[in-house]
Amino acid sequence: MANDDQFKKVISHAKEYGYVFQSSEIYDGLSAVYDYAQNGAELKKNIRDYWWKAMVQMHDNIVGIDAAIFMHPTTWKASGHVDAFNDPLIDNKDSKKRYRADVLVEDYCAKIESKIDKEITKAEKRFGDAFNKEEFVTTNHRVVRYQEKINTILKRLGKSLENEDLKDVKALIEELEIADPMTGSRNWTDVKQFNLMFGTKLGASADSAMDLYLRPETAQGIFVNFLNVQKTGRMKIPFGIAQTGKAFRNEIVARQFIFRMREFEQMEMQFFIKPGTQKEWFDYWKETRLKWHKSLGLGEDNYRFHDHEKLAHYADAATDIEFKFPFGFKELEGIHSRTDFDLKQHEEFSGKKLQYFDHEENASYTPYVLETSIGLDRMFLAVFSNALEEEELENNTTRTVLRLPAVLAPIKAAVLPLVKKDGLPEVAQKIVQDLKWDFNVDYDEKDAVGRRYRRQDANGTPFCITVDHDTLEDGTVTIRHRDSMEQSRVKIENLRDIIKNEVDVKEWLMRMN
Ligand code: GAP
Repeated sequence: MANDDQFKKVISHAKEYGYVFQSSEIYDGLSAVYDYAQNGAELKKNIRDYWWKAMVQMHDNIVGIDAAIFMHPTTWKASGHVDAFNDPLIDNKDSKKRYRADVLVEDYCAKIESKIDKEITKAEKRFGDAFNKEEFVTTNHRVVRYQEKINTILKRLGKSLENEDLKDVKALIEELEIADPMTGSRNWTDVKQFNLMFGTKLGASADSAMDLYLRPETAQGIFVNFLNVQKTGRMKIPFGIAQTGKAFRNEIVARQFIFRMREFEQMEMQFFIKPGTQKEWFDYWKETRLKWHKSLGLGEDNYRFHDHEKLAHYADAATDIEFKFPFGFKELEGIHSRTDFDLKQHEEFSGKKLQYFDHEENASYTPYVLETSIGLDRMFLAVFSNALEEEELENNTTRTVLRLPAVLAPIKAAVLPLVKKDGLPEVAQKIVQDLKWDFNVDYDEKDAVGRRYRRQDANGTPFCITVDHDTLEDGTVTIRHRDSMEQSRVKIENLRDIIKNEVDVKEWLMRMN
């Protein structure tokens, strides 16, 4: 399936199966704002829990907090967001459409990258088993030329953005002859900066109301609580503070479904370390976070690191874990070495000391910070888009199957009475009532059993349990596995352990080791 088609299928499947709806759809929706439906809310919660367990529960030196969305407005002055949280925008004079200048250039590079992918696919077919991808991409002239072109363009873009040289960003767009993707026009305005924070007001009367921002990242809620947590938790460096929660950005290029939203959720962790050890912790967290992703089995080749040329105002090193979405490799998670920038800024703006007393060194210092920051919605999209498949079956039919990692699936098992009579529904309901204590389970008695299997496949349910007339005789049921479609006969009392074995968070997280 072409990537565009695959992506459209992902979006419509997410709606049809109760995962994601457009926000306020009955009023024609709100651009780049989405609601999670009955299955989506479960999947999202499971991803959040999977992250929380790995980061907070499994690390003795990481604790979790839940800071407020509203923060004192000086927070955002101190953090640099008021002055520097901008996107470079460009308007097309003919179409009157607005774009992010850097995204136009990145999309141009993504097109070159898809040419590389095509060359690889062709070569794979030509050489068969003898194909060595690594050797091919480093020696094939065409591929090497494409890659060099991408590198040169991105390097120049990074430099210009870093130096705030917006004239050069426009020059680059013109030199590459990048056109408005909607109309093909190349009649561009100059590039301008645009602040992404949403403003709001706190207070009853207009004159006493205080101007606030909706937080554009959860991280600052951690920084301002650094000393509170360190003291009350008697935390010793190195230690981390994690939290998950909503963030808001007035994104201009709001497309690609839940990839880029105006209201989204982040899962962030700030790891406070001794100055000078940041390189070692940067490497540690890169490796640890990649292992977490890989534990979910979405495909080893679907990840890559992208080191930043243009560093954010607070960072001395940064990398993205990119994932292969249906529209190509894009940022899924950021790992940033933030130095002591944030704590120092908050010290300066609040007038309060935010230092750590190191008993071993017998000295106080401002800790450095290593941050891991992942978008929960983006992770949802990675998991969901990767799972959706139109599988060709041996009898020349196809089935739609959502191969969600069992640990994340919203519903772990569906219990199906073969027919709606002879006491089978009662036995099936009893199984549901028993399993409910441990798992989210569904009961389904409508339509022929084959159709019910298909419905559960498309919904991502890892197990179907069928109760038939033999069940009444010998207390066994058929258990069917979503991915292999294999069926076996098992005792009702063994169901809990069989399901647990496949969906247990522990089993999945152990794959990180
Ligand atoms: N505290 C650092 C920070 O916020 P970021 O790279 O701007 O860094 C971190 O964001 C992660 O948040 C990204 O890797 C992405 O997964 C997610 N994210 C950022 N903007 C988003 C948006 N508009 N919609 C959905 N997810 C977003």
